[in-house]
Amino acid sequence: MTDRLKITGGQPLKGHVKAAGAKNAMTKLLVASLLSDKKCTFYNVPNIGDVEVTVALCQEIGMEVQWDRAAGIMEVITKELKTLYVPQRFSGSNRIPILMIGALLGRTDQDIIVPTTGGCSIGQRPVDFHIQALEQLGAVIEYRGMKREGAYFAHAHQGLKGTIITLPYPSVGATENTILAGVTARGTTVIRNAAIEPEIVELILFLQKLGAIITIDVDRTIRIQGTRRFYEVEHTVIPDRIEAASWGMAAISSKGRVFVEGAQHVNMLTFLNKLREVGGGFDIKSDGIEFFYDGPLQGGIHLETDVHPGFMTDWQQPFVVLLTQAHGSSVVHETVYENRFGYTDTLKEMGADITLFRQCLGGKSCRFASQSFCHSIIVKGASSLVGKDIHIPDLRAGFAYIMAALIASDTSVISGLQFLLRGYDKVVEKLIHLGADVSLLPAEKPIRPALSQVVESFV
Ligand code: EPU
Repeated sequence: MTDRLKITGGQPLKGHVKAAGAKNAMTKLLVASLLSDKKCTFYNVPNIGDVEVTVALCQEIGMEVQWDRAAGIMEVITKELKTLYVPQRFSGSNRIPILMIGALLGRTDQDIIVPTTGGCSIGQRPVDFHIQALEQLGAVIEYRGMKREGAYFAHAHQGLKGTIITLPYPSVGATENTILAGVTARGTTVIRNAAIEPEIVELILFLQKLGAIITIDVDRTIRIQGTRRFYEVEHTVIPDRIEAASWGMAAISSKGRVFVEGAQHVNMLTFLNKLREVGGGFDIKSDGIEFFYDGPLQGGIHLETDVHPGFMTDWQQPFVVLLTQAHGSSVVHETVYENRFGYTDTLKEMGADITLFRQCLGGKSCRFASQSFCHSIIVKGASSLVGKDIHIPDLRAGFAYIMAALIASDTSVISGLQFLLRGYDKVVEKLIHLGADVSLLPAEKPIRPALSQVVESFV
């Protein structure tokens, strides 16, 4: 249980923050490093909960880790696999356990056991594409146990063998798992309809340094030529484009001005286009992007989340808060997850005017068209928000609530900070640094050192 955050709205965020290394890259790079027995050194490592959990998971397998959190440097080496059974306590911890199947079968032909995967509750999030792809490469996988309480028992006694795999949908995780398995598979593995998010390109860059031979074609096809010859790697993790955009939106919605060091234009194109459409100010510099309030925001836009290079689903929740402050009605169609609007109930209680729809609004039909999920909304703005006691349900909703509380006319108390700390590096310290009126209140039943002590030592 973590402390609660008290936020009194009305203060514009002003100043400079640095985007940390990307959560959705660093966690995968750690797993990828398990493929070899060579040393890997990472720079710009984010100090976040999901990296902590992934480190603990990899240490169980035999990884030796030296992590200088203050410097953001981590050295890892897995000379040998200590065990092939990932402990059940990691079940549901985050999205990483399922990727262990690809990485471990890439390293050993022995039997492995991997618990179920978890992550934010924003849809069913099945792993059928992962399993089908790995089976096509020669893995034998069996799920034993009840629903989410069980584990995957897998092996590739004959070794993995490259083949052509066509993913039903460009899933990030399934693409990563197949790449990890393909690195040491005999022959060539071809992934068609692959995800090509910048974090996947990052994984490929790391694997190329490690020794893998991988190409990305223009038509979402990834080809991997199997190898077992590996090298030591030094790698600087790309800045987190979700964190960068989040601070940008918080700056604009609070009518402030924040320079986000490390925000990369090339990976934020679609986000910046939408920001321009609503009238949010930004200035792209050589080492980051400055975001600023540039007068009243204009709604009336249509926004659709999609796989890369589309508008990221992880930008959606904070962007909806921004739209509550824009004049006019905007349509948001979520096409990646079927259930990512649950957080809007709390925004409505704070004064936002948001209506949910089961239909695909905005013209394009998505995978959820004939199903009954509320996956489109209309947001009418501009609304005055009022403070509220809020419990964070998941990572990105968490940042959206922080933004709403920063805009609100009075005080909010936010609990469930552990969800936010999974993915946002030093988020409380950064809020304080940017001038937000925030303070930490002890958890109602504290069971470990208070986060307030950590913040005090920073300030
Ligand atoms: N899907 C399936 N079957 C599968 C795999 C995916 O139906 O076997 C569906 C999912 O249910 C979902 C869609 O495909 O509807 C996309 O899922 P994807 O596999 O692409 O997502 P993921 O790998 O589980 C990663 C990020 C998410 C991010 C998505 C999409 C990590 C750890 N997580 O999840 O990040 O939203 O890709 O870009 O990399 C976040 O950081 O807050 C977050 C949720």
